[in-house]
Amino acid sequence: MKFNKKVEDVLNKQINAEFWSSFLYLSMSSWFETKGLKGFANWMRVQYLEETTHAIKLTDYIIARGGQVKLAALDKVPLEWKSITDSFEETYKHECKVTEMISNCYEVAFAERDHATANMLQWFINEQTEEEQNVINIIDQLKLIGENGQAIYLLDKELATRVFVDATKTAV
Ligand SMILES: [Fe+2]
Ligand SMILES: [Fe+2]
Repeated sequence: MKFNKKVEDVLNKQINAEFWSSFLYLSMSSWFETKGLKGFANWMRVQYLEETTHAIKLTDYIIARGGQVKLAALDKVPLEWKSITDSFEETYKHECKVTEMISNCYEVAFAERDHATANMLQWFINEQTEEEQNVINIIDQLKLIGENGQAIYLLDKELATRVFVDATKTAV
């Protein structure tokens, strides 16, 4: 079946959003580095890598379907945040927006009767649930410890253990 134009468009927009996300998290990671919070920086660096793989996963899919990958310029990302909690609250808000976008991609694919794409997007739907949950867990911990120096030091140690898993190597 010929690749549907509306589906191609919405997936190209999603690639842009995934790359924007990766820039956002690399920016946050760099901000944490300047604060000496290496563990938080690592967590965000992993997040950055994951987002690039989301973009690549969609790129590979468009190519596999015989569509055209259309990369576009990225909007500027923020460079600093008011507090650690603020950066994670921004992360949560952003991930909710991405979840909405993925749902929209799914709805377009379904309306165009492109069930292969709808099926591929299931991976992203599950991924979003996981991402939102991970961020909520960190926000909950930050609320508990209230950005107290010693507790932040311990949380930083914990976040330093996050390891990147390449999503392009897992089954769709
Ligand atoms: Fe993503
Ligand atoms: Fe994400």
